Amino acid sequence: MTVGIVGAGQLGRMLALAGYPLGLDFLFLDPAAAPPAAQLAPVLQNTFTDAAALATLASRCEVVTIDWENVSVADLRKLRQHTRVSPPPAAIATAQDRVSEKRLFEKLGIATTRWRAVGTRRQLDTAVREIGLPGVLKTRRMGYDGKGQAVLRTPADVERAWSQLGPVPLLYEELVPFDLEVSVIGVRSPRGESQVYPLNHNLHSAGILRLTRAPYGNVRLNRMARRHVLTVMEYLRYVGVLTIEFFVRAGRLIANEMAPRVHNSGHWTIEGAVTSQFENHLRAILGLPLGDARARGHSAMINLIGTMPRRTEILRHVGVHLHDYAKEARPGRKLGHVTVVEEDAARCERRARLLLAELAPGIHIP
Ligand SMILES: Nc1ncnc2c1ncn2[C@@H]1O[C@H](COP(=O)(O)OP(=O)(O)O)[C@@H](O)[C@H]1O
Ligand SMILES: [Mg+2]
Repeated sequence: MTVGIVGAGQLGRMLALAGYPLGLDFLFLDPAAAPPAAQLAPVLQNTFTDAAALATLASRCEVVTIDWENVSVADLRKLRQHTRVSPPPAAIATAQDRVSEKRLFEKLGIATTRWRAVGTRRQLDTAVREIGLPGVLKTRRMGYDGKGQAVLRTPADVERAWSQLGPVPLLYEELVPFDLEVSVIGVRSPRGESQVYPLNHNLHSAGILRLTRAPYGNVRLNRMARRHVLTVMEYLRYVGVLTIEFFVRAGRLIANEMAPRVHNSGHWTIEGAVTSQFENHLRAILGLPLGDARARGHSAMINLIGTMPRRTEILRHVGVHLHDYAKEARPGRKLGHVTVVEEDAARCERRARLLLAELAPGIHIP
């Protein structure tokens, strides 16, 4: 049975790594010459919008999924005439646009930031007046790893942010003085069966995820996040893995954004959960029974960004798992990650701090 994946980045690569033990085959579509998944499976090298390449993918695969959410939803809908496509294109469309994401959260009674849609310089002035400063201006589409965002602190920042990001469709929202950031990862099968992973505690720097620790938080916080992700998945009749990122302020969850796919904050589940997010995504989109999402002990995952440390430097730490995405080094680029899993929470925390100091000097755990 072959799974088709649009995008052959590290997420696709880790999906393939999770799928081989289940006896699955993979076929990717990606414009890059040597994307991370190419080491593992054949890649149709073409643009994501090439009709012939998409048709080939559909004709050769039992199901098509995505490794990158900014694919053309119109194209995915067309593929549906030939094969199954999961997650549902309508859910991907919602997650592609920050405004429709916010509207969905509001409709489902999930607290989110105060926001305004901004299309013109005048609308930006109005939004800043109504929402206030400080705030964040974000492109509605295509943002990732903090790209397409500007923080506004003073009235003078308005013009600078507009010239940097305008005149594309934007969203302005309050800058949340959060205590910390968390994410919740859920998975749902076509029969409506679901599993939710324990909360991830995420530390970002310059908009990029650096460290995730899991499981995080008390029963109450986990229950709220679980309810939110189940509500969204149910509403969207979702199939596959869905992630929601939250700010936590005074013990409350404020939804930031969602991703219709496996997520960087869930990489620890490869070694740290009974069933990884990657395996569960595959199980879901193939209509197979879902695996247990419970954690095995305490995990910490550190992203390797910009430069790749030498293998020996990482592997000399007993029990550290290295994931090298086989990508060319470039500043700000996610090249790999490491995970430690410990039975004891305090020991996991100590190891996370030591590893972070070594692998990401300058990034401090508050
Ligand atoms: N409104 C906000 N208030 C405070 N911090 C924010 C806000 N929006 C974004 N950030 C910070 O920037 C990070 C990246 O922003 P996000 O909206 O998640 O975009 P993306 O992950 O798509 O780049 C967040 O995880 C958070 O650390
Ligand atoms: Mg984010």
